[in-house]
Amino acid sequence: MSVGREADDRVLCTAAMEAVSNAYAPYSRFRVGAALRCEDGTVITGCNVENASYPAGICAERVALGSAVASGRRSFSALAVATDRGEPAPPCGICRQVLAEFAPDLRIISVTQAGESREWTLAELLPSPFTPEWLDTSA
Ligand code: THU
Repeated sequence: MSVGREADDRVLCTAAMEAVSNAYAPYSRFRVGAALRCEDGTVITGCNVENASYPAGICAERVALGSAVASGRRSFSALAVATDRGEPAPPCGICRQVLAEFAPDLRIISVTQAGESREWTLAELLPSPFTPEWLDTSA
């Protein structure tokens, strides 16, 4: 791994960890932060936002992705996910699907405040994703 990428990853993980403090998770008390590195180098963060109507809550990863897309960015190279407890958690299944729409080969790093980390590719976590190509009826 190049020194540049290691430094970039540290910045990304710090951004995800900082986003944990904005999490609104009064029901699960599982606070999550996410940080997406866009192809242009921008880092866009998100946190989980729960709701009294439980299924209306949204994960940190999808908040970050939606924010990035709303800012006109659709190409991403890495995602960091951070939690303040437990083991380094992978994105949930719905987030994997949503991320695959834009970045099927995304690198995903998960960190905890205790300093543990794990890394996957989205392709490892979601083999055979349903992508826009499946809707191409001209094929
Ligand atoms: N959560 C995330 O934000 N990201 C994940 O990938 C897993 C789960 C949130 C959703 C909910 O607010 C809380 O964590 C417990 O499931």
